[in-house]
Amino acid sequence: MIEDFKTAAIHAIKVAGFDFVELHAAHMYTMAQFLEVVSNHRTDEYGGSIENRTKLTLDIVDTLIDAVGANKIGIRISPYSTFQGGSGADCKIMHPIAQYAYLYSELERRGKEGKRLAYVHSVESRMAVGGDAIDGPEHSSEWVRQIWKGILIRTGGYLHSPGYKLLIDDVNLDDRTLIGVSRYYTSNPDLAHRLKNGLEMTKYDRTTFYTQSNYGYNTWGKFGEEAQGEDSVQAKEQLVALA
Ligand SMILES: Cc1cc2nc3c(=O)[nH]c(=O)nc-3n(C[C@H](O)[C@H](O)[C@H](O)COP(=O)(O)O)c2cc1C
Repeated sequence: MIEDFKTAAIHAIKVAGFDFVELHAAHMYTMAQFLEVVSNHRTDEYGGSIENRTKLTLDIVDTLIDAVGANKIGIRISPYSTFQGGSGADCKIMHPIAQYAYLYSELERRGKEGKRLAYVHSVESRMAVGGDAIDGPEHSSEWVRQIWKGILIRTGGYLHSPGYKLLIDDVNLDDRTLIGVSRYYTSNPDLAHRLKNGLEMTKYDRTTFYTQSNYGYNTWGKFGEEAQGEDSVQAKEQLVALA
């Protein structure tokens, strides 16, 4: 499996010319299943301790550093997530800070050794449950910022707070924090421009998420533009046909 990640990264960076590859170690996909005590019951070198549960993720990170270079790699981590069975902060066996602080500090150690990843991408606790909720428990991610000293992308519900207070507060903490946006990016292709200029956002349409069509992703207009053109009418028909 590690070789598969390597092949995919080489194809993305060296063949297709991607800027970065992002390792998905969040939300109970494969790497998180190894990281989380709730799903990792292994008794070999990949389970049974904080270090062992982190081994698969770091093995993949190290393999990719050798294959494409640390500065081409990002990684997504969701320490507090309960999505798809993740342990979350209430886990009685292993607190997420204990488990994940080790991962962040190992990434930081590589950084100090001259192999700093392009960025680490962390999901905030308010997004713990997935779906459309932004009311997960508010646990501070300050510990993440204090361990990992490189570029940090923080994500989760940043555009839902009045006056974008959360976004403004966190982005102003230092000069290495970026904010990742998901839902509002689907319906605002010019999102950065709108934020900069105080323009109203178009509300996203959740019914168009996770479908087999591009409708709802690439059919929204920029500010003041007609939302849907010819192509999008076809795309909507395609979506309806699929449903
Ligand atoms: C259409 C859509 C697809 C998403 N796909 C993924 C995914 O594959 N993996 C993941 O970790 N998060 C995924 N997310 C979650 C977002 O990346 C993000 O963590 C979450 O929505 C919080 O950001 P937001 O409040 O800006 O929407 C998805 C979100 C949306 C709206």
